[in-house]
Amino acid sequence: VMAPPEEILGIKPDGKYNVPAGVREKLGKNLLLNSKHPLGILWKTVQEYFAEQDSNCKFFDTEKPVVSTVDCFDKLRVPPDHVSRSPSDTYYVNADYVLRTHTSAHQCQFLSQYPEITSFLCAGDVYRRDEIDASHYPAFHQCEGVRLFDAQKVSKEEVMEDLKKTLEGLAAHLFQLKTGEDTMRWLDELLSHGVYVYFPFTEPSLELEIFYNEDWMEVLGCGVIHHDVLRNAGLDPEKVHGWAFGLGLERLAMVLFGIPDIRLFWSDDARFAQQFSEGSFSEKTKFKPFSKYPPVLKDISMWIPEDFVDNDLFEMIRDEGGGPGRSSKMFRVTWRDMSRTLTNEEVNAKHEKVLEHLTWNVVTSVAD
Ligand code: PHE
Repeated sequence: VMAPPEEILGIKPDGKYNVPAGVREKLGKNLLLNSKHPLGILWKTVQEYFAEQDSNCKFFDTEKPVVSTVDCFDKLRVPPDHVSRSPSDTYYVNADYVLRTHTSAHQCQFLSQYPEITSFLCAGDVYRRDEIDASHYPAFHQCEGVRLFDAQKVSKEEVMEDLKKTLEGLAAHLFQLKTGEDTMRWLDELLSHGVYVYFPFTEPSLELEIFYNEDWMEVLGCGVIHHDVLRNAGLDPEKVHGWAFGLGLERLAMVLFGIPDIRLFWSDDARFAQQFSEGSFSEKTKFKPFSKYPPVLKDISMWIPEDFVDNDLFEMIRDEGGGPGRSSKMFRVTWRDMSRTLTNEEVNAKHEKVLEHLTWNVVTSVAD
């Protein structure tokens, strides 16, 4: 970690600062606000689904990613000694402020800030110290959803039912699936991969998985909001209750748009950005891979023996291409006379002469 800056989004670092430069430069990229970026397109699509479901739903996506440990952990009942708070898992700006580890950090804030709100979505960039590979990156995006109900009129069972129906509907909308198919499943009170589905801020907690690439993939965590969390938001659990969910946007976007590597979302390469536009969800745009480096094209044309096998040539080229200390070059020679059409026979004769020279002067000298 390099020396801390004067401040990060208005918060002054202290000895607990542990944000590396590579993570810090992600702050303010605002990928979700870019309507042509796959994550921005997905966020728009999620908003459209909820707006249609519930015309009262409010949307937030400009909250600063630096939040207090009170909002990120305490108000959500994350115990003081929980691993998710440790500096090996979380980026600290100082002892009291972190890069948010989840969008749940805004649950209590919005509920107390806007007492008239009954449902909202909040999306943003979130940060967790993590190893980097094709599906993990320390900066990613989540969408939080909350819906409240009148506790006198709607039972907890009905809240659960609404939660499941809403999120199955979302998954069905995104992936054009029929709900209840073999393509989604709920993990609830029972074991998921040997561990309980549990979030300290929901009771009960659930996870939704979708079947993709021959495997079940977790797409969101959710549950009925814990009474203490409602109280921390200034609400009376006797009067209101509700559900909340948190959705990882990268994984969904990777599936939707066929993006094979999570690091591509942060790419400045125009060959990534130009593949997507506002219409990419409805047009079912699929990403076409490119190599980071431009290719050099060379042609080979030759007469082949009857027993020629294409793959023998391909293997020879791959071997040559990678071998240390040896490189090969191929040239295309264009034979043309300005005043007449050449015949194959006379060009072959001349070409042979050229190859003879090459054989003697280049190939044999290398062999020597
Ligand atoms: N915040 C949880 C996570 O990051 C997801 C979640 C949100 C779970 C809301 C329940 C309710 O994994």
